Amino acid sequence: MRYEHITDAIGDTPLVRIAPEVHGLRHIDLYAKLEMLNPFGSVKDRAAWRMARPHLEDARRHGRTVVELSSGNTAKALAVIAGVHGLPFRSVTNRMKVPEIKDLLLLLGAEIEELPGQAECLDPTATEDPLTRIHRMLTEDDGRYLHTDQYYNPANAEAHASGTGPEIIKDLGGTAPDWFVACVGTAGSSTGAARALRAHDPDIRVVGLVAQKGDFVPGIRDIDEVHEVGLFDPETYDALEAVSADEAIDGMLTLVRRCGILGGPTGGAAYFGAVRHLRERDAELARAGDGRRGTAVFIVCDRVESYMSYVRQRRPELLRRPPRPNSPATVTPRELAEVRSVGVEEARAWIAAERPLVVDLRGSFAFEALHIEGSVNIVDELFEELLHGGPPFGRSQPVLLVCPVGEKSATYAALLARMGHRDVRSLAGGVIAWRDAGAPMVRD
Ligand SMILES: Cc1ncc(COP(=O)(O)O)c(C=O)c1O
Repeated sequence: MRYEHITDAIGDTPLVRIAPEVHGLRHIDLYAKLEMLNPFGSVKDRAAWRMARPHLEDARRHGRTVVELSSGNTAKALAVIAGVHGLPFRSVTNRMKVPEIKDLLLLLGAEIEELPGQAECLDPTATEDPLTRIHRMLTEDDGRYLHTDQYYNPANAEAHASGTGPEIIKDLGGTAPDWFVACVGTAGSSTGAARALRAHDPDIRVVGLVAQKGDFVPGIRDIDEVHEVGLFDPETYDALEAVSADEAIDGMLTLVRRCGILGGPTGGAAYFGAVRHLRERDAELARAGDGRRGTAVFIVCDRVESYMSYVRQRRPELLRRPPRPNSPATVTPRELAEVRSVGVEEARAWIAAERPLVVDLRGSFAFEALHIEGSVNIVDELFEELLHGGPPFGRSQPVLLVCPVGEKSATYAALLARMGHRDVRSLAGGVIAWRDAGAPMVRD
């Protein structure tokens, strides 16, 4: 295979059969589409190239900077594409959550701008969110930037409608699979590939996978966040199912250890979600007893190597490291059930009477915008680090933990209780409940 340019190597990725003894489905053939084998390492190479390509020449002539709101694979692919075309690249994000990717972006010469946005996934109604403001500024473009706009750019999905989808049909001998399973980030790959597959066979069933709420699987959004993505259309999916971080890592382990497929957590999530979804369908085919077989394809988005710190943090035993003490993953349902979650009125009365330390676990921007008077801001990730070192406050100090919806605060309250804190409570419903109840908040 000979190419004149590295970008010619984007696409035409292998479709590899997963051995039946690994997945255990007896009437369904399961295939992995190895998008991790794109030249810059992920499914996003296709979208990045498709979005940037038509504008590169013009951008070079006018000295534009390529800009994208991304902390991951899209940024990586754009950094390479911009670099080889002599253009600067700037990645704008709320938080670089995967340190390996941040280092790689810097190595590739990218500029990284970390703004305290609420979510990288834009919410057009959050007019005060800095990322949304930047997005608006870029969209109103004054000619300085080539903004590829992955959350809204139809070229993101088209890259898969003209590439990923048709390649799957070709590799299956001119037929579409019965099921197509993909993780949903910007929704570009699932939307585009599903469009091509449905055009070929309207009976195909499309399963979109999202992260379980409150869990972090790098590259996937949770069910609330996907609805904020411009390209997301619920009609694309016959089912939208959630995968936890642990399930994604379990799926990834199966791929890397048993299949020789060195995919990352979303590849693992796609494998896990596919097998879980198909088990019942496999049983239906068995009951029908007519010898009919089904075919399913899932996407492996990127490679495992970038996620070693993610694995170290969540599953240290896999890297022969001792378990991290007091990490949220160790909280049992029983500990959670014993947490004292208090409603807004009770919390207000408690604050007035006993002045507990109110700890707000949200991001700094959200805190600055509005918070409970007198509260202190310790962003959840920092709070988690503090807990590893032991109790962060005196055990007799009364503490009220506050987060957006009351889920994270309950988990951390359980951990503090386990560490011997005598009076720790969690604000039920979080800041949203507080705000909705019309309780007073202040701005910094
Ligand atoms: C690792 C990983 N998996 C899955 C996805 C989802 O792809 P899409 O944005 O096409 O929905 C992404 C997107 O950024 C990703 O980085």
